[in-house]
Amino acid sequence: MSLETASPIAPYRRHGSNAGQPLTRRDGELKVTGRATYAADNHPAGMLYAVTAVSRIARGRVTSLDVAAAKAHPGVIEVFTPANRPPLSHDPEVKLGPFGFRVEVLQDDTVRYANQPIALVVAESLEAATEGAALLDPKYQAEPARTGFDDGERYSPAAIGVGAPPRTAYGDIEAGLAAAAHIIEADYVTPAQFHNAMEPHAVVAQWDGDHLTLDMPNQALVMSREAYAVWFGVPAENVLIRSPFLGGGFGSKAILNGPQILAIASARQLQRPVKLVLTRAQMYGPVGHRGATWQKLRMGMDGEGRLTALHHHAISATSSFEEFLEPAANASLHLYASSAILAETEGLRLDIGTPGPMRAPGEASGSAALEAAIDEAAEACGMDPLEFRLANYAETEPGTGRPYSSKALRECYAQGAKAFGWAGRPLAPRRMRDEDGLLVGWGIGTALFPCPHFAAQARATLRADGTALVETAGVDMGQGAWTALAQIAAEALGLDPDQVEFHSGVSSLPDGGIAGGSGHTASAGLALHNAGEDAIGRLAELASADPASPLFGAGNIGVIARGGRLHRRDDERRSESYVDILARAGREVVVGTGRMARDEEAVQSWAMNSHGAVFAEVKVDPDLGQVRVTRLVGAFAAGRIINPRLVRSQYYGGMIWGVSFALQEAAVTDPRTGRIMNADLAEYHVPVSADVPSLEAILVPEEDVYVNPLGVKGVGEIGIVGTVGAIANAVWHATGSRVRRFPIRIEDLAQGLR
Ligand code: MOS
Repeated sequence: MSLETASPIAPYRRHGSNAGQPLTRRDGELKVTGRATYAADNHPAGMLYAVTAVSRIARGRVTSLDVAAAKAHPGVIEVFTPANRPPLSHDPEVKLGPFGFRVEVLQDDTVRYANQPIALVVAESLEAATEGAALLDPKYQAEPARTGFDDGERYSPAAIGVGAPPRTAYGDIEAGLAAAAHIIEADYVTPAQFHNAMEPHAVVAQWDGDHLTLDMPNQALVMSREAYAVWFGVPAENVLIRSPFLGGGFGSKAILNGPQILAIASARQLQRPVKLVLTRAQMYGPVGHRGATWQKLRMGMDGEGRLTALHHHAISATSSFEEFLEPAANASLHLYASSAILAETEGLRLDIGTPGPMRAPGEASGSAALEAAIDEAAEACGMDPLEFRLANYAETEPGTGRPYSSKALRECYAQGAKAFGWAGRPLAPRRMRDEDGLLVGWGIGTALFPCPHFAAQARATLRADGTALVETAGVDMGQGAWTALAQIAAEALGLDPDQVEFHSGVSSLPDGGIAGGSGHTASAGLALHNAGEDAIGRLAELASADPASPLFGAGNIGVIARGGRLHRRDDERRSESYVDILARAGREVVVGTGRMARDEEAVQSWAMNSHGAVFAEVKVDPDLGQVRVTRLVGAFAAGRIINPRLVRSQYYGGMIWGVSFALQEAAVTDPRTGRIMNADLAEYHVPVSADVPSLEAILVPEEDVYVNPLGVKGVGEIGIVGTVGAIANAVWHATGSRVRRFPIRIEDLAQGLR
């Protein structure tokens, strides 16, 4: 089809109707045609440009800034430094809730990490602001930066991740090890990784008196609105955040950060709109990252290959002034039925920016080490890695004994193994070569991700013309949330998705909760589902009370909503259209509301997770050590699938990130300066198309009647979880070499190959 004959752009293309159908993204054509506006596309009248000057040392003090030179630049309006910091209503050294991190907003001249904002230059143009920042010519009093595992200060945290326990023990680890026939001990190291969303962190801030409007990419609109209200001392309802489109988030846009707060404060001070867009390099510090971990695993196995002890000890790095500790060790608490399990985490203080949640925080790093170590345990027992996993399969949640609300993991293993062709895999490494002489290896990794739910609300308005408007402040950062959420709403309303106008991405709408934790579809979806049911219930009351309606008196029997009509449940031939019901009742609209709700007793009684199994094939050049992933097959069970096209896409994205984690991604810090040396997309390696192998994501059917009334579980993060270990294990199988430092580098592998 040529461009000329292409049909006019539809809001989205339908391939079916409600939940379960692979609709394309509602916002897809807006994005690919450039009509979607991102935060930085906003240019309110009179807008100024802000640029942060950032520190080039990682620890110490700023001793001078040539503010006069910067201010002398034509176009520069103001230079903010600790001497004239714009006022704030919140102390930046005080933590504001679990997601409210301490940040740098020019509170003093201290430098706590490289790339920390040390001044903000505001000018009439981006060029003037950039040049003004360059003229500041900062001088420093530098102290040695602590950036490595051996440099920092270790401590025992009170909590890890967002409030998870730092130590969990089931049974007696030492007794389990003493009773073991085989023991393995292995240390795995994962590096600092950065979110590197395509769209940088940005904000366009406008003040009107004490009313604030923010155009910014934001994964947590209502939560952020409340936090900004505290920072600026205004009522939350005075803050409007618009975040219609995001160019990726991955966790880094769920938290407030210093540069954006500074830009908003400067707009208030100067009484003009201000835009700030971070450069790629400036995103390596003040806006979060996946913290580095050093994970020590010890496992004991009896003569039958069953785990007698599983000890997962993580050292998780954080900044010198704030805490976000990768809950990596806790990845060992759910999958394998060892008679003793100990998961514990130490914190490590470094002169770095504070880490934060990044796609599958904890699970990604933790399972990379766990799944690779499980492979070592299987090897020690002389067992096939899949057989070993099945032998240690936890029928109920280890330690707590809670049954799984549903667990189709055996089916994931079976379907994945069949599609991949796992049978016949030689047990010993270095037994397979391709026609070019490359070493071939096959590996497996297990994936698990929990089912967090967030408070969420929604509104559904049935209109006189038979269409509906549904509203929730949800966020679509590319995952397809708006499409899947509209499908859920349409189903509850008995309409087709294209009869449903979907409003989202603005903080003034009912709180859609956080787009994160792989919990957005379930959380906002439940709110929308309930809002739709509420609207239908109100419509049914109108009809049921109307003697002229074929539904008269249906009240106690109930109705079914389908195809824009209500049908009596006991006699579906008796039906009436929404249009007719509303017309006779003289109503323009019927409004329903709903919130995320689930059976709290079920939540306490069952262990709830999504599951998966990933199979990887790699080829390794025996002379050069170059690794290529050639095939990935993932089989995932995540409850009810609302939109298989989007879900498969989420799995692909996760699996590709797994390739990245296993083989490519790492921030490299110069220990002399504490600066990250590859703070750009040229040298911070992520997969390009040529790095992405043949991918297959199998959607294993699963019905979970306990997780929530929709049966929906998370799909956004689980793909990365199994893939990293699968690739590491395939590399071992190809080469016989266990590389325990991620990413697996040529230089680490080449030693083993010699
Ligand atoms: Mo995320 S790390 O759940 O955006």
